[in-house]
Amino acid sequence: MLSPWTLVVVSLLAIFIPTASSLFQLHHLHTLNLAYNDFNPSLTPHNIGRLKNLRHLNLSDAYFLGKIPTEISYLSNLVSLVPSYLLSLFNVNISSPIPVNISSSLRYLDLRYTNLRGVLTESFFLPPNSLETLKLSDNDLLKGVFPKIHRSNTLLMDISFTGISGELPHSVGTFSSLNILNLHDCQFSGSIPDSIGNLTQITELDLSVNHFTGHIPSTISHTFTSLVQLLFSGLPDDIKTNPTLEYLYLSNNQLSGSFPQSLANLTNLSTLDLSTNNITSDAAINITFPRLQLLQLSSCELKDFPYFLRNVKTLEVLDMSKNKICGQIPNWFSGMRWDSLEFLNLSHNSLTGHLPQFHYRSLEHLDLKFNSLQGPLISSICNMSWLTLLDLSHNYFTDSVPYCLGFIVSLDVLDLIRNNFTGSLPPFCALSDSLRTVVLNGNRFEGPVPMSLLNCDDLEILDVGNNAINGTFPAWLGTLPELQVLIVNSNKFHGPISTRKKFYFPRLRRFDLSQNEFSGSLPAEVFRNFKAMIKLDDREEGEIEYMGQNMNGDQIYEDSVRLMIKGNNIELERISTIMTTIDLSSNHFEGVIPKTLKDLSSLWLLNLSHNNLIGHIPMELGRLNTLESLDLSWNRLTGKIPQELTRMNFLAFLNLSQNHLIRPIPHGPQFNTFENDSYGGNLDLCGPPLSK
Ligand SMILES: *[C@@H]1O[C@H](CO)[C@@H](O)[C@H](O)[C@H]1NC(C)=O
Ligand SMILES: *[C@@H]1O[C@H](CO)[C@@H](O)[C@H](O)[C@H]1NC(C)=O
Ligand SMILES: *[C@@H]1O[C@H](CO)[C@@H](O)[C@H](O)[C@H]1NC(C)=O
Ligand SMILES: *[C@@H]1O[C@H](CO)[C@@H](O)[C@H](O)[C@H]1NC(C)=O
Ligand SMILES: *[C@@H]1O[C@H](CO)[C@@H](O)[C@H](O)[C@H]1NC(C)=O
Ligand SMILES: *[C@@H]1O[C@H](CO)[C@@H](O)[C@H](O)[C@H]1NC(C)=O
Ligand SMILES: *[C@@H]1O[C@H](CO)[C@@H](O)[C@H](O)[C@H]1NC(C)=O
Ligand SMILES: *[C@@H]1O[C@H](CO)[C@@H](O)[C@H](O)[C@H]1NC(C)=O
Ligand SMILES: *[C@@H]1O[C@H](CO)[C@@H](O)[C@H](O)[C@H]1NC(C)=O
Ligand SMILES: *[C@@H]1O[C@H](CO)[C@@H](O)[C@H](O)[C@H]1NC(C)=O
Ligand SMILES: *[C@@H]1O[C@H](CO)[C@@H](O)[C@H](O)[C@H]1NC(C)=O
Ligand SMILES: *[C@@H]1O[C@H](CO)[C@@H](O)[C@H](O)[C@H]1NC(C)=O
Repeated sequence: MLSPWTLVVVSLLAIFIPTASSLFQLHHLHTLNLAYNDFNPSLTPHNIGRLKNLRHLNLSDAYFLGKIPTEISYLSNLVSLVPSYLLSLFNVNISSPIPVNISSSLRYLDLRYTNLRGVLTESFFLPPNSLETLKLSDNDLLKGVFPKIHRSNTLLMDISFTGISGELPHSVGTFSSLNILNLHDCQFSGSIPDSIGNLTQITELDLSVNHFTGHIPSTISHTFTSLVQLLFSGLPDDIKTNPTLEYLYLSNNQLSGSFPQSLANLTNLSTLDLSTNNITSDAAINITFPRLQLLQLSSCELKDFPYFLRNVKTLEVLDMSKNKICGQIPNWFSGMRWDSLEFLNLSHNSLTGHLPQFHYRSLEHLDLKFNSLQGPLISSICNMSWLTLLDLSHNYFTDSVPYCLGFIVSLDVLDLIRNNFTGSLPPFCALSDSLRTVVLNGNRFEGPVPMSLLNCDDLEILDVGNNAINGTFPAWLGTLPELQVLIVNSNKFHGPISTRKKFYFPRLRRFDLSQNEFSGSLPAEVFRNFKAMIKLDDREEGEIEYMGQNMNGDQIYEDSVRLMIKGNNIELERISTIMTTIDLSSNHFEGVIPKTLKDLSSLWLLNLSHNNLIGHIPMELGRLNTLESLDLSWNRLTGKIPQELTRMNFLAFLNLSQNHLIRPIPHGPQFNTFENDSYGGNLDLCGPPLSK
């Protein structure tokens, strides 16, 4: 049995370390050698953080499958860390200064996303002879300068997204083995040393998003015979580099004038990103990029479609959004046989005329929003049978949409917001269940909501607001398991919203029926079934998620939906999944406000104004403790304002005006901030803030 009182040095080489080992009760331990151990995921030494006095930790040649425990960061007295030969601390939160002495045998050090902070000293890199891979990226509290050390065998150095600053020293040229140097999004300044041209083994160089000044040294184009990927920003004008390049990212520079002819020799380019520059197009430019697959020209100064594109046959991604392209889409462009084109973004330009027939058989994403396109949508659009995203919003399209739109099997997102489409809705999901987002707000669609929507098992957002849709409430949509947003405001819907059938909508968070002709009572079961408004599920705790994100948090598509907040019509760029709202205003609902509303504990906005509701305001509403906006105005509500409402700590907007409420207005932290217009038009209401 180990004595917990006296032992200060322990070496346990290549033995089995159980998690709950009595080892971790040795509070006086200052040296621990766990070299050659094999920690599989269930056996990582989780209690290591208890060893508060530990000064030397030797994990030499230990093998970690899985992660080193976060607890390593509690070892505030640690002066030497001899990490294993293959040490990965990826994603471990070590909010502590850098361990000062790193083993001279270390070859691979991965400290990305570890919350490292403090100043990176040159000793960190000493002796550098063994270190082949150094990954320090994504530690924005890490400061310091690039070490002025000579001789290094490092092959890969990634210090991107850190606070490392100062000039890039001349000695960088001595890192002669370097293959990959990533300095993206640091704080480097000054000019780039000529010696960088000595990095003859370099294949990937990322100097973008820094404060470099001056030119890319001409030495680069002479000696970089292996370079395949170059990222650079802050570039004053021209770029000269060598023809080995396959990936060239020059976004956010000040490249101006016509498309850089100097790129003409880069015949191996497959990716060219020139976005956010002052580049204009020039009909005379005749470049042939025989392998170009991705061309990013968004946020430039293009006024026409670059004519050289007719020489490029291999395009897969073409982004010319946010330029100044005006006029019609030229025939040569729409007539290109780009069989591999998957992504075309022409949004935010001034395109006019009719949408031509494209011949891009593989197109998956077509974004034409914010242009001035007009006329009908031709049915040959449906011939692009791989289409997953079609965004034609904010244009002047007219007439009815082709019926075949309902039959595109792969369609995932359809956005036709703010056009002038008429006629009935196509039979969505006629052949598949792929649709996730259907947003048609602000057109002149009429007729009923198509029953085929019942096939859309993945539908999350349906917004048909601001149209002329006529019919009764589509309560049958309630069986759609994923439906989170249902917006039907400002149409010609009528009749009661509850039917004899059960009312579901298990995941609904936004429910907007405002400005229709709905009537009847608000039955208790309607609200009882909004399960998603009752409790936030685990996913939403902590970080706010937005709709349209995939599992990694990458934005696939920014769903935008309009929302009435405090009387203002706001178009939300991203829909936060925690923003739960119910808007039934400006209808003919009657009867009392159901008490079951109290269970919607994550409700953020409730608007029942401009109806014929009677009875008292249920005191149970006071339990809606996340509510920020409550509008019950323009009804026929009677009785007192319940004192319980003052418990709503987040309430920022309240309108109870134009009812028949009586006697004193209750006091409370939030209530004391509301003014006259929250209460006006209630003849028997008195007390502050009213003068009566
Ligand atoms: C780490 O432990 C191993 C095994 O005992 C030993 O060979 C090595 O020298 C130690 N490293 C340091 C830096 O103490
Ligand atoms: C990392 O740890 C620090 C200190 O314990 C804490 O403040 C911080 O929130 C943690 N960060 C993450 C992403 O867990
Ligand atoms: C780091 O190592 C050097 C050289 O081995 C030694 O002189 C110095 O004391 C060490 N620093 C710490 C904090 O252990
Ligand atoms: C490194 O680059 C500088 C400047 O381009 C040059 O003068 C020097 O000779 C180069 N050194 C080596 C070892 O190639
Ligand atoms: C282009 O790439 C091919 C294959 O990757 C290579 O063989 C060729 O040498 C490259 N051309 C240039 C000019 O670098
Ligand atoms: C780029 O264009 C913008 C807007 O036209 C202009 O303000 C800016 O001066 C231009 N920059 C350069 C480097 O030409
Ligand atoms: C392209 O290459 C040719 C021949 O290698 C050379 O003469 C010409 O100057 C190069 N053009 C540019 C813009 O670099
Ligand atoms: C553009 O270049 C291609 C390939 O080099 C050539 O075939 C074509 O004739 C050129 N066109 C013009 C208008 O110069
Ligand atoms: C098209 O470009 C715009 C502006 O650059 C961007 O906001 C939008 O997300 C892009 N569309 C797609 C589908 O990526
Ligand atoms: C679209 O496809 C249909 C059926 O496959 C075909 O008859 C029609 O000609 C195509 N239209 C265009 C414009 O390619
Ligand atoms: C839609 O059409 C109506 C009637 O033709 C017209 O008055 C209106 O300006 C059009 N709106 C748009 C955005 O095109
Ligand atoms: C709705 O459609 C029905 C049948 O087409 C029609 O009788 C009725 O007048 C329409 N209602 C409104 C408000 O347009």
